[in-house]
Amino acid sequence: MIRTYDDYREIYRKSIENPEHFWDTIADQFVWHKRWTKTVDWNFNDPDVKWFVDGKFNITQNAIDRHLPLNSGKTAFIWEPNSPEGHKRIITYQNLHDEVCQLANTLKNLGVKKGDRVCIYMPMIPESVFAMLACARIGAVHSVVFAGFSSSALAGRIQDSDCKIVLTSDGAYRGPKDIPIKSVVDEALRECPGVEKVLMYKHTGTIVNLTEKDIIWQDVVPYASPVCEPEIMDSEDMLFILYTSGSTGKPKGVVHTCGGYMVYTCYTFQTVFQMDGLNDVNTNQNVFWCTADVGWITGHSYIAYGPLLAGASSVLFEGVPTFPDAGRFWNVIDKYKVTHFYTAPTAIRALEAAGLQYVAPYDLSSLKVLGSVGEPINEEAWQWYHKNIGKEKCPIVDTWWQTETGGIMISAIAGITPTKPGYATLPLPGIQPILVDEKGNEIPGNDVEGNLCIKFPWPSIVRTTYGDHARCRQAYFETYPGLYFTGDGCKRDHDGFYRITGRVDDVMNISGHRIGTAEVESAINSHIDVVESAVVGYPHDIKGQGIYAYVIVPSTTKNHDMLKKEIIAEVNKIIGPIAKPDKIQIVNGLPKTRSGKIMRRILRKVAEGEISNLGDTSTLLDPSVVEEIVKGRL
Ligand code: WTA
Repeated sequence: MIRTYDDYREIYRKSIENPEHFWDTIADQFVWHKRWTKTVDWNFNDPDVKWFVDGKFNITQNAIDRHLPLNSGKTAFIWEPNSPEGHKRIITYQNLHDEVCQLANTLKNLGVKKGDRVCIYMPMIPESVFAMLACARIGAVHSVVFAGFSSSALAGRIQDSDCKIVLTSDGAYRGPKDIPIKSVVDEALRECPGVEKVLMYKHTGTIVNLTEKDIIWQDVVPYASPVCEPEIMDSEDMLFILYTSGSTGKPKGVVHTCGGYMVYTCYTFQTVFQMDGLNDVNTNQNVFWCTADVGWITGHSYIAYGPLLAGASSVLFEGVPTFPDAGRFWNVIDKYKVTHFYTAPTAIRALEAAGLQYVAPYDLSSLKVLGSVGEPINEEAWQWYHKNIGKEKCPIVDTWWQTETGGIMISAIAGITPTKPGYATLPLPGIQPILVDEKGNEIPGNDVEGNLCIKFPWPSIVRTTYGDHARCRQAYFETYPGLYFTGDGCKRDHDGFYRITGRVDDVMNISGHRIGTAEVESAINSHIDVVESAVVGYPHDIKGQGIYAYVIVPSTTKNHDMLKKEIIAEVNKIIGPIAKPDKIQIVNGLPKTRSGKIMRRILRKVAEGEISNLGDTSTLLDPSVVEEIVKGRL
């Protein structure tokens, strides 16, 4: 237990001196069918990392069954629907158990076996979490795809991991919109002959086209048995695949395994947020709310697994922060007396811009801890959050981590270690960050800046990228041999506190969503009139980063406004609305070196409006294109 800043320092030191002992003590708090024989076995060259070697258990037994003897009636989730007029749902741990088992038995009846991949393309309803846990119950591997992705993005993900079944719903509500997501699945399945069945939850009542593969959830799940013995899994059996963008090519399927992920998400949830009374139904007063979607890692680790493993009560929210108006978050906090609130800087900035009149009507005095995740939080947003939401009494935990890290890596510990605006602050126990220069030399000491790497494994480190281990090595372990490279730039200040400065590779962070420039370029290039394109991120007041696209079209193309609309439609179709360019500049050429490489540094500066010093352009094949680009800047 960490109770003071000194405890943190002491425990941190011990966790580095003897990681095995440190993690053994934490892992011993779970229910194991068979204890592990070795804590960690690793090398970062292949890479090959194993935690809790030979341990046998099931994660759902720890997330659900373990709580039943004392806390079966405790709330696992309070579901708040998209419409404030809709009915909330309360899911107790007992309900969760029964629902998960019924769905697990249904999946078994549909022929799903241990190791099979199951795609989940669903809105933010409790059934999405049931779906993830039902897979884990029977040892199937879930691959959740955010329901805002297009049919073609969905198809690519289904194909890559060869899913044999898709779980979805008829439709999804997103603020004022009613999105027919089953039809997106239908469209995707035209390219996915390997999918045998689609289990569809009726949610919006929208009219759907039923095919012979479709089974309606409500027709089968309620009739399945609510008892399903958990499949005994090995620590290193795959738990899930989650696709994320990298600096090159198509999104990759990050693989997490059962043991390390369980231990790390639970430990970090408990440590960072410091919710007390977790395992006692009588001290039920703490309510956690993570506003992420289960389609992203934040939803996996801090809506589904972490809080349930810890026995917490959470809000699960279907809607968006601005519907019916920008007071919705504050309304929900007031309504359910949320104590621990975890959201993204982009939401904070959007709600700040809407004005304090949306905050004023609500009582936010239940709040104890505020969290931030997904992108750097600018000082202004931090101060606004601190003053107007936390009323200057709630610590803000700025949590830095990634899909690949599985859980929070660098963050303040609520109420115990210091916070500092814009700083993720200090590594959690067990985490060994290091800053390196371009050549991979360690940059020691304080008041320095470099590329952020981690030098020792932690339990939920990425194990592989599905179906392509070489890509995992190349993306994270090859740049700096012997280290895990995060892709982020980072400062360490005079106190040794870390501040993440943003990606140093070709990955953008748009409203907290990771999108690769290469993916957007490839979608733009698929428009028949596009000759070539280059995409960069630029600072955006609300989104953090916006997408700026430079596009070359033939001189015969006259109607540029129409073309820009078509390009946006193309990106929506191939990736989804989250990747649509904010600005499209039509250009005659791109700044290329003699070897044909696009000098993105120049494009980034132009997009940022920093045109006074574009740096050395002498190596360009045709320096005059830069002048033209600067002139046409949007
Ligand atoms: C960025 C989201 C600054 C970072 C959990 C990282 C952050 C990428 C923070 C991972 C933070 C995440 N401060 N930057 N607190 N949290 N990032 O995989 O660039 O969707 O590499 O995981 O988001 O995004 P991902």
